[in-house]
Amino acid sequence: MADTQKSATLTIGDDSYDLPIYSPTAGPDVLDIRKLYGQAGVFTYDPGFTSTASCDSTITYIDGGQGVLLHRGYPIDQLAEKSHYLEVCYLLLYGVLPTAAQLEEFETTITLHTMLHEQMQNFFRGFRRDAHPMAIMVGVVGAMSAFYHDSTDISDEHQREIASHRLIAKMPTIAAWAYKYSIGQPFVYPRNDLDYASNFLRMCFAVPAEDYEVNPILSRAMDRIFTLHADHEQNASTSTVRLASSSGANPFACIAAGIACLWGPAHGGANQACLEMLKEIGSVDRIPEFIARAKDKDDPFRLMGFGHRVYKNFDPRATVMKQSADEVLELLGVENNPVLQVAKELEKQALEDPYFAEKKLFPNVDFYSGIILEAMGFPTSMFTPIFALSRTVGWISQWKEMIADPQNKIGRPRQLYLGETSRDYVDIEKR
Ligand code: SDX
Repeated sequence: MADTQKSATLTIGDDSYDLPIYSPTAGPDVLDIRKLYGQAGVFTYDPGFTSTASCDSTITYIDGGQGVLLHRGYPIDQLAEKSHYLEVCYLLLYGVLPTAAQLEEFETTITLHTMLHEQMQNFFRGFRRDAHPMAIMVGVVGAMSAFYHDSTDISDEHQREIASHRLIAKMPTIAAWAYKYSIGQPFVYPRNDLDYASNFLRMCFAVPAEDYEVNPILSRAMDRIFTLHADHEQNASTSTVRLASSSGANPFACIAAGIACLWGPAHGGANQACLEMLKEIGSVDRIPEFIARAKDKDDPFRLMGFGHRVYKNFDPRATVMKQSADEVLELLGVENNPVLQVAKELEKQALEDPYFAEKKLFPNVDFYSGIILEAMGFPTSMFTPIFALSRTVGWISQWKEMIADPQNKIGRPRQLYLGETSRDYVDIEKR
């Protein structure tokens, strides 16, 4: 916890209360209100937590006004260009960039955990073939606590470490098998001679009937998508993981809760919703119609992939994703992809529209990711599972940080009660 030299004074009626102010290494000061209810008998009120810091953290910093995203101090655009996903996983988990020896050991550890217990295949086969892969992911990840009992005791640092490695290593296998199951193809096992992204692509697209060669440009693009989604401060799904973990629940159950939260179209489900929206728009001449709908307060439609609770400038991940979309589609010879043309024109028109400018609505990480994933051959239903796969390291890193925090206690918000005050029961014959 940062030390405090400053404080604010809150006056309620004739009483005044001093609230300590803590200054961060970057970002806004925070007001410590932990003693407020005990001293003043009042709650603070902040639905959606728009002005609330739920914890202190050293993992990820976002400056929404400047469009800055740092992981342990390193800018996301530098990591996307110069690093790779497993190195970013090491950075998020341990706080430093690894030496060559540390990286090799970490990558070997992850590689050796990529297989699933063979009986877990029964879980996949229990679902309907048309089950959404996110439903399967929530179920299978939660079920991991029934298979990996030797890494569920969160008070044991060694077990926390194994659980972290197992989750990072097995998520690609779980996501790939959910996809294979949905298309009626056999599960493809991971291979230890492939890097993380190549292994995932092969498990998704290889079939026993023929060899599958991973295109290095596509695996590099896949790895970059993993990196761009790895962590993002105290977003809804990360906060869900933290709150679930605050009760002492095992790591697999907590990550399953995070997957469930990420599924929503306002959060990680936006990449699927965005591509479906771009396809519904269909051509650039229909863009004004959809922009008008997005601006209409009586119409619940919103531009998917646009806007953000924190970024009031370009999401730096969207900028990198847009460059990657151009590269991948050119490589695949589909640079004239009509969906990409609609996306670019929609972005241009929206950014020129006063409504979006005034509300500081810019493309976010989900605006271009779906275009790349579809060009790589993934169905829209696999977009959010890929987001969940990527974000697992962020959830786990935040989970580990929270458990190690001596201030860690069960999260238990209060409320502004507007219901009935006490009244006597009325017998049914008198109602
Ligand atoms: C992710 O938190 C994270 O970090 C999340 C994430 C991560 O990495 O974990 O970055 C990943 O979830 C990115 C966001 C993906 N979601 C979408 O693209 C869905 C579309 N976006 C919106 O649903 C919305 O922008 C949110 C949910 C992302 C943010 O909503 P907020 O912060 O609660 O803002 P708001 O809903 O109060 O919007 C402010 C105003 C409103 O108008 P007024 O009521 O003030 O008149 O802007 C409008 C909104 O109607 N608005 C939009 C809009 N987003 C906000 N209008 C049209 N289209 C949009 N996309």
